[in-house]
Amino acid sequence: MRELTSWLSGGADPDSFPYLPVTAEFHRTGKHFVGKEFLALLDEARAHVAARAAGAGPAEPGPVRLLRDFLDVALDKWDGRYDYRSYLALRLLGLPCGDDGEDGGPVAGRAARRDRDRLLVRLVADALGFELAASAGATDLLPEQRPGPALVAKRHRLGVRAVAPALSRLGLTAGVDDPQPAGAAAALRALAAADRSAAEERALRLSMLPVYLSHDEYLFIRVLQAYECTFAGLADELRATIDALDAGRAAAAAQRLAYARDQLATAAPLFSLLASMQPESFRTFRAYTEGASAIQSRSYKLMESLCRTPEGSRLDSAAYRSVPEVRDRVRAGRPSVDAALQAAVRAGRLAGADRALVERRMREFAAAVLQWRRTHHRLAVRMLGERPGTGYTEGTPYLAEVRAIPVFTAVAADPDPADPSEPSGGCPE
Ligand code: HEM
Repeated sequence: MRELTSWLSGGADPDSFPYLPVTAEFHRTGKHFVGKEFLALLDEARAHVAARAAGAGPAEPGPVRLLRDFLDVALDKWDGRYDYRSYLALRLLGLPCGDDGEDGGPVAGRAARRDRDRLLVRLVADALGFELAASAGATDLLPEQRPGPALVAKRHRLGVRAVAPALSRLGLTAGVDDPQPAGAAAALRALAAADRSAAEERALRLSMLPVYLSHDEYLFIRVLQAYECTFAGLADELRATIDALDAGRAAAAAQRLAYARDQLATAAPLFSLLASMQPESFRTFRAYTEGASAIQSRSYKLMESLCRTPEGSRLDSAAYRSVPEVRDRVRAGRPSVDAALQAAVRAGRLAGADRALVERRMREFAAAVLQWRRTHHRLAVRMLGERPGTGYTEGTPYLAEVRAIPVFTAVAADPDPADPSEPSGGCPE
């Protein structure tokens, strides 16, 4: 409080905003319980920064933008607009979270793939770093319902496995193969720390504002952010697939689809990692996450609608009403892989072995998406039981209903012999 009042009275320079004491205040109680007086001061800070931004014209300086984005996240509950995107602080992480003009922008290339890999590694490494610090008694952050040593070791193992493919693409594997889970997790934390800039480190710190004090909320937030990073990457690959099909470049389209499939399939240990969350911890903190649900995930719906145009009934359901900007684009006629394939075949740009290859890659990608949905449903059943979702659906019955929606219409998904159409099975491992 003191740091904030003196910042306000001392010129309110965005460059010297007291981020550390402010986030510490949020961490002391959890975002849901931050005092009104403190939030009123932050609101005042926001007015100052808005005035500065107005004075700066269209080229908003970096520190002003960072502070605006942070206050947007910090004041979501105060403003009554708390949702999934503000809960996860997606904008602070540089992940898409609004109508960011995803159509018509440059197609993601090697640099974008690398950025996503690096972000994924940072997020998971940070989650494991928190587990390491808590089990060593080196932090008093989120002190309630600490997990036992066996669970922590499992998290280390699964977290390292989740980022292994990204690490090897980045050429950063040294030490992460330690047979001791804690040793591998510590190596991962060190690698990620050495690879990140000061700005990336700050974004990581500012993007962790849990609603309560349960230890496991840290893991929950980081896994959701990691999947958001994955979905955003999938959307990029699908856009590139459409471009390649339009240009008659079958091999490039097939390569993009294969890359997307690998991204989603190799991210599966993230679900296993989250399945190690203690259900009673989840039920404790989710009492304060009402209104924030991944049904509001723009990147997931973008990915889904880039595969094919959703049916009218789905577009009119909570699924797309929760992401109005994506829904608007679909209704305005956003292109899809499905439509691009059909157009390429009709125009004679895609035939024979090329067509068979692209269709095979589409089937493989579809199988990975269906697998993701089945695993997600199983995890939700385990954590939630009969309870409704925080996105105001009836909960797992909604997920059971949507899990088999075809990913493409032009091709069917490959059947997955390892996972017959469930739902009996246990949890992801
Ligand atoms: C404890 C773990 C989880 C539980 C209990 C859970 C539960 C749910 C529920 C009940 C819904 C339906 C909407 C609602 O009313 O909220 C939902 C939707 C969704 N969840 Fe999860 N979820 C979990 C983890 C995740 C993770 C890690 C992701 C990855 C980002 C994710 C992504 C999604 C997406 C994309 C939807 C929208 C699906 C659609 O509209 O077709 N969920 N989840």
